Amino acid sequence: MARIKTDFLVLGSGIAGLTFAIKAAQMHPDRRVLVLTKTDTGESNTRYAQGGVAAVWDMEKDTYEKHIADTLDAGDGLCKRDIVEIVVHEGPERVREIIEWGARFDREKDDANRYDLAREGGHSEHRILHYKDLTGWEMQRTLMETARQFPNIEILEHYFALDLITQHHLGRMVIRVTPDIECYGCYALHKETGEIDTILSRVTVLCTGGAGQVYKTTTNPVIATGDGIAMTYRAKGRVENMEFVQFHPTALYNPAGENPAFLISEAVRGFGGILKTAEGEEFMHLYDPRQSLAPRDIVARAIDSEMKKRGTDCMYLDCRHLDKDAFVAHFPTIYEKCLSLGIDPMKDLIPVAPACHYMCGGIRVDAWGRSSIHRLYAAGECSSTGLHGANRLASNSLLEAMVFAHRIAHDTRERVGQWTYQDDVPDWNAEGTTDPQEMVLITQGLKELKEIMSYYVGIVRSNIRLKRALDRLFLLYQETEDLYRTTTISPQLMELRNLITIAYLITRSASHRRESRGLHYTTDYPNCQPFIEHSVL
Ligand code: FAD
Ligand code: SIN
Repeated sequence: MARIKTDFLVLGSGIAGLTFAIKAAQMHPDRRVLVLTKTDTGESNTRYAQGGVAAVWDMEKDTYEKHIADTLDAGDGLCKRDIVEIVVHEGPERVREIIEWGARFDREKDDANRYDLAREGGHSEHRILHYKDLTGWEMQRTLMETARQFPNIEILEHYFALDLITQHHLGRMVIRVTPDIECYGCYALHKETGEIDTILSRVTVLCTGGAGQVYKTTTNPVIATGDGIAMTYRAKGRVENMEFVQFHPTALYNPAGENPAFLISEAVRGFGGILKTAEGEEFMHLYDPRQSLAPRDIVARAIDSEMKKRGTDCMYLDCRHLDKDAFVAHFPTIYEKCLSLGIDPMKDLIPVAPACHYMCGGIRVDAWGRSSIHRLYAAGECSSTGLHGANRLASNSLLEAMVFAHRIAHDTRERVGQWTYQDDVPDWNAEGTTDPQEMVLITQGLKELKEIMSYYVGIVRSNIRLKRALDRLFLLYQETEDLYRTTTISPQLMELRNLITIAYLITRSASHRRESRGLHYTTDYPNCQPFIEHSVL
């Protein structure tokens, strides 16, 4: 059981974690920046981002006001306007920065001096910078190569953060309203040795990403288990807006089942793809005048409703009228993936269905990424900054992660020297635990959890469904806590525990919201209420 000390402890190596690490390393060449990541450095939600990063770029056509208005409109009254203004105004500078670090975004065919700006649902202008349909892969590559150039950044792979360390570990009672909770670092499982190390830090930054794995079908890779949000909630930090789970309308429907589900980027609809029935008829005009390019919550609900009406497992995306060369150049991965399943996008309708995609809520942070726990910051998908409100606008997520990583680096610039290590933190206590007798208890628990969330807390909710979900979750929680108390820690057990917490937070927040707004739709309260509140737990 090692004890490790670091000035900056960063949990997660996606866009938020690596952007922060690079900035902290640049600002403090003499300080240590330690990044923990639970599998390989490159495995993250970031790596799978397709559509791109939204930023006001073409100043002849686009304006900050338009991007702000689009973000507020998608967020359905729950965005924090000051945060939207910060992200939209500071975003282009962060995009320029990653371009300087080496990110290649596609340029126009006829004018190599101009970036090829795409359009997605809810955007009134073309403002999405992208690298084919592999934008996230390109950004992740750039960040990993840049981070490697800094000798004071160390990345520890296959290190699983288990719990945040606070005064609770020093024997002090800590409850959710304790005003001065402090974070001293974390306990982390070194997956290769099985040892649990104590990592002490002056500053801890959570960049652990989303939690799509709480649903049966998701575009998120298997690492997306909401660990940072669950750890913060266990440490008695504030979490908010968890009911706003974004379902992407167009994951590729594969009857064989695939985890993660492959995404058909919204940029395909921005490129001219049209949603249709199996008979080739359009239906989106029945739901919104923006049709296939309406914001995601509207399109996902429309597809869900059409599927339920018809008793089918998918609807379709028609790309047959599009120029083949241009389509293949823009979407080579999508094209190849469809072909691999025997679907030729130029000849066949592409079967699509909604899949859990993005967590709009998360760890409540202020405009500088500070959580409710001192010395603990959060950025990226695990955080709730107020940018997305009740529904995230497409391609605003990568932008938000970069803007907040930058802001946290600035906020901690002076403060890091004022915070000292808490040397009297005890080592992890594994007394009374033994190796698991039956892993099936964990794997079956996970299956049950996903079923509960998919059937009762999906795109359409109701009081009775939410109550059923809470009752079943409670049982699963009790059984899993029993296992946790008696069993040697494993990543699978911790992920199940974390996902149960996420499921509980989503379901409880959904039960509190007695209205339909943005991504939260309930048949018991189908309308928006005039008084809007953030659901803080
Ligand atoms: P991630 O990139 O998910 O990184 C999380 C990191 O935390 C990983 O390194 C993981 O290993 C680590 N981690 C997690 N738990 C632990 C733990 N317990 N211990 C140690 N490490 C841990 N957004 C856009 O803006 N534009 C797009 O085009 C776009 N397309 C998308 C397409 C897909 C298929 C998906 C899934 C998402 C897409 N998104 C898009 C959303 C966007 O990719 C993510 O929101 C964003 O990349 C999240 O970045 P992050 O740094 O917060 O987290
Ligand atoms: C997509 O390419 O459709 C995903 C974009 C996003 O999630 O922002």
